[in-house]
Amino acid sequence: MSFCIIGTGMYVPPKIVTNDDLAQIVDTSDEWISKRVGVKERRFAVKEFASELGLKAAEAALQDANVKAEELDAIFVATISGETSSPSMACMIQKGLGASCMAMDVSAACSAFLFLLETAAAFFALHPEFQKILVVGTERMSGILDFNDRSTCVIFGDGAGAAVLERGENYLDSVITVKGGNDVINIPHHPGNSPYFEGEQDTPCLHMQGQETFKYAVNAMSQDVTTLLERNHLTADDIAWIVPHQANKRIIDFAAKMLKIPKEKFFCNIEKYGNTSSASVPIALHELAKSGMLKRGDKIILCAFGGGLSNAACLLKW
Ligand code: UT7
Repeated sequence: MSFCIIGTGMYVPPKIVTNDDLAQIVDTSDEWISKRVGVKERRFAVKEFASELGLKAAEAALQDANVKAEELDAIFVATISGETSSPSMACMIQKGLGASCMAMDVSAACSAFLFLLETAAAFFALHPEFQKILVVGTERMSGILDFNDRSTCVIFGDGAGAAVLERGENYLDSVITVKGGNDVINIPHHPGNSPYFEGEQDTPCLHMQGQETFKYAVNAMSQDVTTLLERNHLTADDIAWIVPHQANKRIIDFAAKMLKIPKEKFFCNIEKYGNTSSASVPIALHELAKSGMLKRGDKIILCAFGGGLSNAACLLKW
């Protein structure tokens, strides 16, 4: 009991911020960012919040799939940078679309699009009447970045990606891992102003130990791709594309080397958008699908890692 992806969509805000632009506000350079991360520019929202970015990506995916909002049985959304905790981003997008189906957020930072697909597969299995589910990853990362911290603010970008899923048989296998803890990546909320609270809280923005994350990411991605290949008696030659989370071009290149898979098989668009967290995999998938380089029937692997720590991957037939 699984699904097929019948449409994809994306939206990025129009404001382009180049590495040279960032070098005006933090001590960095185009050379460092290009070489160490692979990003040339990113989009930062000027007026739109995460729910608005997500709504636009959702509308694009519905149009691509030729599906109306009222046909949806569920909407699942992922974000770490939503403008509200309640209502959830899924509730906001449901209202924006004029849909009336159930809607909820799933939280798993940069791995979250994979968690959304797994959640959708579970709901298709649980509800035989469900035919169509919308999944959206949407982020206004600029709202949670510390623009005084050059090791994080140059990496991320804003954007949203979405996919429309229809009951079918193309979600072939998946793997999900969580190694809980808040010491490597965390984004604390504002602690509030309770006169009774005496706990200590870090500043309410993204904190990351870059090198720890880097090592985790390379190992996790290699391990997950290997598991999916071995478990399904496939070799890299059977896979048309690997669509990885766009966190750092060097992470992708290291994983490709570890896996002994040509790096040309890994779809990469990090240079244009930076790391858009939960939106990065659906944006990459959308651009790959629209490039004409992905054919119906191709087997592909999506893989991601991030805060949690968490990592996940899935094998799909396109
Ligand atoms: O999607 C969520 C998961 N996140 C990730 O996957 C991110 C994973 N980590 C990374 O991508 C990399 O670790 C970073 C891009 C964050 C950092 O790259 P790095 O090669 O690991 O650099 P580093 O932290 O080892 O720092 C090397 C040097 C340091 O200077 P010193 O101490 O050697 O003088 C940093 O202060 O680079 C310096 N540095 C910078 N220099 C110019 C750090 N950030 C910058 C910067 N511009 N933006």
